[in-house]
Amino acid sequence: MNEKKLLSAAVPETKSPEVNSASVEEGVQRHWQGVVKRRSFLKGLGIAGATLSASALLGAKSSAEATPGRGKLSKGDVALLRFAAAAELIEADLWQQYNEIGGVQGGNPAYIAALSNLDGDMAQYISDNTDDELSHAAFLNAYLISKGEEPVDLDAFRTLPSSQASGAKNIGRLTNLLKLNVDLSWYTRYRSSKNPDFGVKFKGPFTIENQPAIPLNDNDTPPNQPQPVPPATPQESRMQAIANTAGFHFAFIEQGGASLYPTLAFKATDAEVLRILISIGGVEIDHFGLWHDKAGNAVSQPLAGVTDPETGLTFPNLNARNSELDQTNLILPEPCGFISKNLPQCSVIRPTLTQNGGAVATIKAFTDDLLFLGQSPAFLNLVTRLAVEADSVQRGF
Ligand SMILES: [Fe+2]
Ligand SMILES: [Fe+2]
Repeated sequence: MNEKKLLSAAVPETKSPEVNSASVEEGVQRHWQGVVKRRSFLKGLGIAGATLSASALLGAKSSAEATPGRGKLSKGDVALLRFAAAAELIEADLWQQYNEIGGVQGGNPAYIAALSNLDGDMAQYISDNTDDELSHAAFLNAYLISKGEEPVDLDAFRTLPSSQASGAKNIGRLTNLLKLNVDLSWYTRYRSSKNPDFGVKFKGPFTIENQPAIPLNDNDTPPNQPQPVPPATPQESRMQAIANTAGFHFAFIEQGGASLYPTLAFKATDAEVLRILISIGGVEIDHFGLWHDKAGNAVSQPLAGVTDPETGLTFPNLNARNSELDQTNLILPEPCGFISKNLPQCSVIRPTLTQNGGAVATIKAFTDDLLFLGQSPAFLNLVTRLAVEADSVQRGF
C-alpha cells in the first residue's frame, strides 16, 4: 500500500488526504510532544474524550519515521500487532468513559467520592491508566504505518450510547459499560496453586451480573450526593455498588491484557516486535496488580456489605470466609504449576496458552462481559477476524 493510501486508511474524513495531512500534521507535531510528557498525554493529543484516530495516527506516523525501521515485517508479526492495536483501541474507549466521569478531571463528584472509598488515589490511577491505553493504541498503529502496514481503525463502530450522567460526553462509544457481567474468576485463579493452562476452571468469589460500572444518569445517582462509608441512603448504596463494580472491572480488563501479551509475544518473529509486545505487556501486568489491590477494598472492612438497591448485588466481606482463596490482601500471584507438573511450582502470569489467554479468548471474554452489547455484526466480524489471524500465527525463525 502506498503512503497516500495509508493516510486515507487512517483518516476516515471525506477531505482529500493532501489537505488533511498538511493541516493535521502541523497540529500533530505539536500534539505528539504530549507523549513525551506522559502526564499531559490526554491534553497533548487534544482528544480529551474524543476518539483516538486521524490526528493521533498522523502524529504518531511522523514520530515513528524519526527512527526508520529495518524492513518489512512478516505477515504473522503484522497480525500480532494489528490485534494488539484493536485491543488497545477497545481498552482506550472504555477507559476514556471511566476517565470522563471518575478521573482527575472527571465530572461526577459522587462517583469520584465512591471510587475514593476504595483508595484515595483512584481518580489519578484512572486518568493514568487511560493515558497508557491511548499511548498503546497510538504507538501500535504508528508502528504499523512506519512499516508500510495498514493501521487498525475502529472509528466507524463508535456507535454505542454514552452514559447520561454528569461528566460523560455525549459521543458514540465502541464499548458498553452501562450493564456488565464481570467475570471474577481471575480473583480465585491468582490465589490458587492451580494453573488454567492445565485445564483447571475457576469460579469467582461472588457474581457481578447486569450491573452498571458507570453511573447511568443523575436521577439514578445524584452527582453531588455525599458517599459516606457505609452508605446511608439507597442512592448512595447504588452509587457505591456502581463504583465497586468498576473497581472489579478494572482488574478484569487488565488481567486480560496481562495474559494476552505473553501469548502474542511468544509468536513474534522479529526481535523488535517481541520487544514491543513484552514492553507493553509489562504495563498491562502493572495495571492488573494495582487494580487487584484496589478491588479488594470493596470486599473488606470498612466498606464490605454494600448492596445495590436496584440489582440486589451485594459486595460481601471476603475476609470473613477465612480462606486463602478469598483473602483480600493476597494480591501477589501464588506459585502454581507451569509448563509441566513435574517441575516445581512457579509464580507466573496465567493463562498464557493461546486457547485460554490469546486473542480469540480475549474477544470472547469481552463479549461475555457485555462490553460489546449493541455492537454491530460487522464489528464483531472484524475483531474476530483480527483475533483468529493473531492466534494462527506461528513463530518463525
Ligand atoms: Fe493497553
Ligand atoms: Fe490495559
